[in-house]
Amino acid sequence: MQKRNKFRTAVITGVGMYVPEKVLDNKYFESIIDTNDEWIRARTGIKERRILEEGGTSILATKAIEDLLESTNTDPLDIDAIIVATVTPDMLFPATACLVQDNIGAKNAWGYDLSAACSGFIFALQSGTSLIESGQCEKVVVVGADKMSSIIDYTDRNTCILFGDGASAVLLEPSNDLDIGIQNSILRTDGSGRDVLRMKAGGSLHPASHETIDNREHFVYQDGKSVFKAAVKGMADVAVEIMEKSGLTGEDIAYLVPHQANLRIIDATARRMGINPERVTINIEKYGNTTAATIPLCLTEYYRDGKFKKGDNIILSAFGGGFTWGAVHLVWGIE
Ligand code: COA
Repeated sequence: MQKRNKFRTAVITGVGMYVPEKVLDNKYFESIIDTNDEWIRARTGIKERRILEEGGTSILATKAIEDLLESTNTDPLDIDAIIVATVTPDMLFPATACLVQDNIGAKNAWGYDLSAACSGFIFALQSGTSLIESGQCEKVVVVGADKMSSIIDYTDRNTCILFGDGASAVLLEPSNDLDIGIQNSILRTDGSGRDVLRMKAGGSLHPASHETIDNREHFVYQDGKSVFKAAVKGMADVAVEIMEKSGLTGEDIAYLVPHQANLRIIDATARRMGINPERVTINIEKYGNTTAATIPLCLTEYYRDGKFKKGDNIILSAFGGGFTWGAVHLVWGIE
């Protein structure tokens, strides 16, 4: 295996999650747009998604981290850094990480937001890993959180059926056993994909105005077909590449944990990797695409379900707006 020169690894030592109570099922969409349950399930794999009715993304992230802290018995004062992966920050500034830091009473932590759309969690995981490997931090919280319902146009049937709200967090800590924890990652960006998946207004280029609102430019815009094609290729290519980098075959992998955007993209990635479908984590039917939260939500649910064992090779893989994409190879470190 091609390993970086390091004196310690970053290990996921705990997980936590939060999804809001309110459920929007496919039947609901039949009542607001021209669609049907069968089409949505067949084309995407989604049956329902969760919606946060009150508050912003910081609420989702805070509750997920509270679950993480409680389940790991961690004192918030011991947290050194908080990285919030999101494209739906409560506001442009202050960063959602600041709001979360205050909410959980992590008085000794610094933090920042990271914007990489659906790849946000694996980009943030790599950032947190670097903080641990370099010796700068001992406990880093990485949370993927998105209130996608705040930027979805519920009149656009191509897009609105896909997304939901949620958050999930992991705790990263160092280990001197270099054979567990984050082993390798490959991360990519290609800004030439900027036009097919984006929110057109609300930034410094087109600040909010009557015109941007009239033109519905504060919502997710996507050319679904182009994104689909790029995602199938990008996610599968990088997943195969990381297997080569880590010297793994499909049989060595305990679980593929893919970003949950569309079941057909996930199936195509697993096929290219030569992985048995039972070895792929799936919860898209319950939550839809929660953007930065999909991968840690899968990690949390499958771990709590007793599926991961210490020493398991796990591949995370994502593709999203930007374009951004990548894969991470980790060896599960919790008993
Ligand atoms: N219900 C019913 N029909 C719908 C529909 C809906 N909710 N949404 C689109 N359609 C229609 C289209 O209008 C099109 O009709 P037409 O042929 O008369 O124009 C038809 O279904 C097929 O559309 P198409 O775009 O070919 O469907 P698809 O198989 O590509 O599925 C997506 C559409 C959006 C589900 C799919 O392209 C996708 O998942 N893309 C990736 C999106 C994504 O993951 N984005 C997040 C970042 S990773």
